[in-house]
Amino acid sequence: MAEPERTEQERLQERIPRSLGASDYKSVWNAIANVREHAFELVDESTSEEQLVASGRQLAPHLVRGLGITTNAVVLEIGCGVARLGREIAPHAREFWGLDVSENMVAIARERCAHLPNAHFVAGNGRDLAGIPTGLADAVYCHAVMIHMDKEDLYSYIVDAKRVLKPGGLFYFDVWNLAHPIGWLRWQVERALYRTKADRPLHRNQFSTAQEIRAMLQVAGWEVLHLAETMMIQPVVTHVPPGVEGEAYLDALRARYSSCWEALRWQPGDHAHMAARMTAHLAEAGRRPEVSPDAPPLG
Ligand SMILES: C[S@@+](CC[C@H](N)C(=O)[O-])C[C@H]1O[C@@H](n2cnc3c(N)ncnc32)[C@H](O)[C@@H]1O
Repeated sequence: MAEPERTEQERLQERIPRSLGASDYKSVWNAIANVREHAFELVDESTSEEQLVASGRQLAPHLVRGLGITTNAVVLEIGCGVARLGREIAPHAREFWGLDVSENMVAIARERCAHLPNAHFVAGNGRDLAGIPTGLADAVYCHAVMIHMDKEDLYSYIVDAKRVLKPGGLFYFDVWNLAHPIGWLRWQVERALYRTKADRPLHRNQFSTAQEIRAMLQVAGWEVLHLAETMMIQPVVTHVPPGVEGEAYLDALRARYSSCWEALRWQPGDHAHMAARMTAHLAEAGRRPEVSPDAPPLG
């Protein structure tokens, strides 16, 4: 009898070294991004440069507007991958800095941005922004990266982003929302993949609730300007410059940017697409969705 074809996830897991250190994001992400096609797939689920450019061009303008990026601004992306977004954002900024734990991702990012002298790339330690100067950035963002972290490391980045972002600057990030029915379905898929594995790979998707993220932001000293609760939790935060009246300052930022932050939200079409994908994954594994994609928020 012919062997059943291995799934994409099974093929990916074969590239992961057997015995990993407790917090070794670097080995995992270098191993799974071992060649260009794999790196592209991890970032955008496609191996094509055209597709990568198209998806970067779709999201980048929302980040430029929503984070108030101008040609005077220094911008930092945490987890820049192959510079899908950085390549589009750098021309709108004075300087673009991309940090990623994977040297393989950074090498491709450098190559893709070789024509952009204001784009700089750094291989980080996977836990914080060591190596990035204090007060460097006017805007910081982190898209589709903290979803792959243990809470300890997600929190370390939240804390260190405050060191690196100038007071009054804006910081956007996103994490999977466990309390959204489609976030839950995504978690159900991950549980089916890794529930019985002794070594749960560090690149797997992880999940949070809005309450957890608000608690982390509060303790780290951030002011929450906006927090969308779609299938992801999508906060925009700042820290108020010293000597400035806080509430008035935050209100002024909200008045100026809130329509741009709304544009960063995942839309009903994105939700429907994700729900269909997750339902198909579950069906492949002989499982049924535990919640309806149309259910109200959980909990
Ligand atoms: C799904 S890709 C997203 C890349 C990019 N943000 C984008 O949207 O095109 C996730 C990226 O996060 C990086 N990454 C994962 N864990 C990380 C960590 N602990 N610290 C820094 N980067 C990390 C990976 O190497 C990978 O490049």
